[in-house]
Amino acid sequence: MNSFLAYMGGKSLLAPKIIPKIPKHRCYVEVFAGAAWMLFKKDENMSHVEIINDINLDLVTLYRVIKHHLEEFIRYFKWILVSRDEFYRFRQEAPETLTDIQKAVRFYYLLKLGYAARIKNPSFSIATTARPRLNLLRIEEELSAIHLRLARVYIENRPYEEVITRFDKPDTFFYIDPPYLGCEDYYGDGIFQREDFEKLREILKGIKGKFIMSINDLPEIKNLYKEFRYEVVNTSYSAGGADKKKKVTELLVMNY
Ligand SMILES: C[S@@+](CC[C@H](N)C(=O)[O-])C[C@H]1O[C@@H](n2cnc3c(N)ncnc32)[C@H](O)[C@@H]1O
Repeated sequence: MNSFLAYMGGKSLLAPKIIPKIPKHRCYVEVFAGAAWMLFKKDENMSHVEIINDINLDLVTLYRVIKHHLEEFIRYFKWILVSRDEFYRFRQEAPETLTDIQKAVRFYYLLKLGYAARIKNPSFSIATTARPRLNLLRIEEELSAIHLRLARVYIENRPYEEVITRFDKPDTFFYIDPPYLGCEDYYGDGIFQREDFEKLREILKGIKGKFIMSINDLPEIKNLYKEFRYEVVNTSYSAGGADKKKKVTELLVMNY
């Protein structure tokens, strides 16, 4: 199935190429989940336990609300329309003043209707070539399937280092999809920095479980992670519309 969110750096196209490479495991941990394209694309029976984690509290609140309060969430969309005014009204709201359901509605609306699904400083997206990504008539149908898929998934909101250390076991598999090198602050200020690539490498060197990390194919990354095996895969990504696809290569770093 597909994720319910287009997301900056979302791995909708890469996930089918990675899934066949996932080793046998018991516990699946998606450390930098974002829109969790890998979780939604893979078969849930591949893993006995599934955990998704992200440091972004608004995003994690959205997951939790879809999991536990779907009806109330959908009710909020009954009278909402797709409009620039509404978009900027939501953007102005301070998340800390809202209830969890309101927080989730705000984050979902901004992500669905913002240009290129940008997390930082979203701007309203309007085009003569495509209908809005938020389809108010299908929201219930779309999210009901997501709700069912999330029903038995653990949702965490911790920094990556805590999650890797805490859930590391010989039969754990980690899917690691950090911000790209050079784009460390795209998901928020101070949550991931250049030095984190070294810190992450040191943590990954010591784990008992297995991992695949997807990252931009740069000589600097190959050098940083040279003690691990890597594969180069072809993929493409789009920014701001499916018609603007760009072909790129991506690096898969693995410890097996
Ligand atoms: C490249 S995106 C993941 C995209 C995801 N694989 C998908 O398919 O949608 C990276 C994610 O890492 C999260 N992140 C950034 N720094 C983090 C940290 N220190 N710990 C945990 N998550 C972090 C961001 O909030 C962002 O959602």
